[in-house]
Amino acid sequence: MNLFVRLDLSAREAAQAVARGDVIIVIDVLRCTSSMINALANGAERIIPVKTLREAYDLKSKYPNYLLAGEREGRKPRGFDFGNSPLEFTGEKVQGETLIFTTTSGTAALSRCKNAERVFIASFLNVSSVASEVEKIALKEKREISIIPSGQKGKFSLEDFLCGGAIAERLARRNAALSDSAVASLLSFQKAKDSLLNHIMMGKHAQNLVRMGFGEDVRFCCQVDIYDVAPSIKKGVVTL
Ligand code: MLT
Repeated sequence: MNLFVRLDLSAREAAQAVARGDVIIVIDVLRCTSSMINALANGAERIIPVKTLREAYDLKSKYPNYLLAGEREGRKPRGFDFGNSPLEFTGEKVQGETLIFTTTSGTAALSRCKNAERVFIASFLNVSSVASEVEKIALKEKREISIIPSGQKGKFSLEDFLCGGAIAERLARRNAALSDSAVASLLSFQKAKDSLLNHIMMGKHAQNLVRMGFGEDVRFCCQVDIYDVAPSIKKGVVTL
């Protein structure tokens, strides 16, 4: 069987990917999946993504040892242990911990895939590792692959599209066939990759983060393949 890779830009396409049983890759470069990947790579034991603040506070009151992480309007919500800056998740702070995570768009995208059997999370930090893991599973289980960029508040976002292109590029090298949207993302990534930070800075989300004082986060999130990890979600929990 040949691999087939889609890049799903609408909620409808994402729902179709779940219904088909695709291997799904959720991306939120700025900053949700970058933060989760950094936390897990630095020793966090597991992450429980939830959609709403209410769910996060309820879970915390049930399991007081768990740590709360995430953002609303980019800022750390009241009573949270961490915001959504990947740089906060150091080994010292997260080693062996369980994090309850809620963000505006990233965890909302994850919750839309909650009925899928195979879901991975990716950002530039781990594109190669995720590409090779999903390739193995897709071939073994005869599934197609869907890359789902979280976007921002339901809108297209440049950095997630480019990251999808980085994954599509790696899968195309292994002879995967690509949908038109996956080809478009691959071509965009190839144009941007030698100066990734500058290109991502052309996007609104990166510009807003810099305005809010999170320029270091944007720089951090533009590093390609610093981690060899492919976190996946099973029964609502993200682990390595
Ligand atoms: C989100 O999930 O909407 C983002 O991670 C927002 C942010 O950059 O904090």
